[in-house]
Amino acid sequence: MGPGLLVALGCAAVSAPPSMRTATRIGAPRASPRLASTVQTKNSAPVEGGAYDTSGFDSVVMKTYSRVPIAIDRGEGCVLWDTSGKRYLDFAAGIATACLGHAHPALVDAVTEQMRRVHHTSNLYYIPKQGDLAQMLTDRSPTDKVFFCNSGAEANEAAIKLARKHARTKHEITEPVIISAQSSFHGRTLATIAATGQFKYQEPFLPMPAGFVHTPYNDVAALRETVERIEKSGPFGLGKQKRLAAILLEPLQGEGGIKPGDPAFFAEARRLCDERGALLMYDEVQTGIGRTGTFWGHERIGVRPDVITCAKALGGGVPIGAMLCTEAANVFAPGDHASTYGGNFLASAAGVAVLRELDRANVLANVRARGEQLRDLLEAISAKPGSHLAQVRGWGLILGAQLGESARCTAAQVCAQAAQGGLLLVPAGPNVVRFVPPLIVTEAEVAQAASIFEQALADASAAAAKAAAPA
Ligand SMILES: Cc1ncc(COP(=O)(O)O)c(C=O)c1O
Repeated sequence: MGPGLLVALGCAAVSAPPSMRTATRIGAPRASPRLASTVQTKNSAPVEGGAYDTSGFDSVVMKTYSRVPIAIDRGEGCVLWDTSGKRYLDFAAGIATACLGHAHPALVDAVTEQMRRVHHTSNLYYIPKQGDLAQMLTDRSPTDKVFFCNSGAEANEAAIKLARKHARTKHEITEPVIISAQSSFHGRTLATIAATGQFKYQEPFLPMPAGFVHTPYNDVAALRETVERIEKSGPFGLGKQKRLAAILLEPLQGEGGIKPGDPAFFAEARRLCDERGALLMYDEVQTGIGRTGTFWGHERIGVRPDVITCAKALGGGVPIGAMLCTEAANVFAPGDHASTYGGNFLASAAGVAVLRELDRANVLANVRARGEQLRDLLEAISAKPGSHLAQVRGWGLILGAQLGESARCTAAQVCAQAAQGGLLLVPAGPNVVRFVPPLIVTEAEVAQAASIFEQALADASAAAAKAAAPA
């Protein structure tokens, strides 16, 4: 990582002028000296003595994550090194985000150059790069207009607001209902946890915003019944209309366990929306931008949406989100929605660089080839006698390995074991291990990852069996 990029990413401590250095000291007395060590150049030495002082970090950072005790220092391609110099193959990729891997020259150059020129002005003015990125996204999708924000949850918030205003202004619906799927995941804001079909994310924060109903994923009959139930439930009467505003679906459920969507279910959702003038909205936050081997995950399903949300891979790890919609669905007017940082120069430059590089290096062909290779290797593990792998699911380079009951261990335990062996993976639910490497992953890296995973699964299962055995 060059100093230019460090500045671009806000790592001011390395090259900041003296006045800024003083400013960053304001909180210094409470901070561990080790905290400063996270700000290092790519070529700097690992932290002396190896292990990172996680207690210093935990004393000042809120514990909203169950962090693995690994402190990352730098990365290149599909490899990360921790602060003690240990090397990891990164098959988590910032949770399906670093699509070009780490320190990719195309992204480094684009962001550094943009930082030197101008990085943020707010959306009070025109941002030409944002226009370029919107054009590239609409050229690659059945949509016409884009709203930019900073994350997946924000993109879904924008879609939810759009659907409500669309229902109100086009169909005089006063109580709009959005159907989403059970086991879905749409983000962590209040409206997006209400849309998320997993009660565990909602319970501590009840009551949820009204207007969300969940239906079983991939169940055509249940979807029809859910729509009928909404329409029969009232309230009725002058000026009151409770009706379907939108159906919000992931083309493949990611956090819900890597479950690909069934074309028949999506076709029925399309039909139900068309009959009522409701919007069919796809959450492509995890599946979009090439992850599935097609540019959008829904291309695997073949059913057209009215709205698409994306984030994660769009900036290759630089925060950006987007909500795309058709001209007919676009009911937003000035003042309806906004985001101070949304699509700023820096994030848009990253997005443009990512999309150009996906085309230039024909990255989607790599996703398909490496995805098939990884699937074959995982299926071979699953086919071995006594295997603890029950099933392999997914598309392209978003694959889930579901543990069988014989494994006795959780996906998180397998991921922890794999990390010890030098492979970073991330669970997708309690018993599915998710593989979402950078889209530029090589054949040799895929082979190595499968081999480390196989050993990790065997070791985690053996440890679980030992722990369960009577003393
Ligand atoms: C399908 C889906 N939607 C929304 C989100 C939320 O995105 P973010 O964490 O960027 O808000 C995620 C994150 O994992 C996701 O997988």
